[in-house]
Amino acid sequence: MIKLKTAEEIEIMREAAQVVSRTLGLMAELIEPGVTTKFLDQRAEEYILDQGAKPGFKGLYGCPSTILTSVNEVVVHGLPDDRPLQEGDVVSLDCGAVWNGYYGDHAYTFQVGEVAPATQKLLKVTYECLMKGIEAFQEGNRVGDIGFAVQLHAERHGYGVVRELVGHGLGTELHEEPQVPNYGRKGRGPKLQNGMVLAIEPMINMGTHRVQQLSDGWSIATKDKKPSAHFEHDVALVNGKPEILSTFQFVEEALAKKQS
Ligand code: CO
Repeated sequence: MIKLKTAEEIEIMREAAQVVSRTLGLMAELIEPGVTTKFLDQRAEEYILDQGAKPGFKGLYGCPSTILTSVNEVVVHGLPDDRPLQEGDVVSLDCGAVWNGYYGDHAYTFQVGEVAPATQKLLKVTYECLMKGIEAFQEGNRVGDIGFAVQLHAERHGYGVVRELVGHGLGTELHEEPQVPNYGRKGRGPKLQNGMVLAIEPMINMGTHRVQQLSDGWSIATKDKKPSAHFEHDVALVNGKPEILSTFQFVEEALAKKQS
């Protein structure tokens, strides 16, 4: 069952999403070669608690951490560890928070130092895929239109669209109906309705779309070990149009400050 949200619930969910947005902004400040993902995880947890919210992932499905840290060929669900990030890595940080009973859940793929141009392009195109998916989240469309838009843009660049993991409805639970695949056919799937809140999250691989689970039982990595990227926003359908509840503003400000 798809749980539609009231305007009041959507306002709470915007606050939940922005707890995560600010936390990703802090991560942007901290990421540099030599920093461990475990350190980032500790700082993320502290900062979520400082904001009066609670980590959204920790403890759910047995997840041991506040953020999921997926480096290079790891697509999603990488666990924080003591291995320092290295110049040229890319790392997707996926973060969840609970605020007044509602989940925020979004993700950004960061560059560590100087990254190969081909990988920079993968990040840029994956971000564009997210925005194209969001544009398709319109009243009168269906869930398949979102996946179609994401897939078309990714495959146009020769990239692989991960099939096994999908976006999802969001609310008082982290994963609500409907599932939101990053591939699909126009006009297929559940109707998009006002009051829906979706976590739209393309996971795009430089090479094959095929993935495998690593021996830690969590990390999902590309089969060909080529890099993958992941961007996610929380989006509500309001007056027939998509309204992005999360923001990359804090990330962008932090990155701009580091460059100056
Ligand atoms: Co998600």
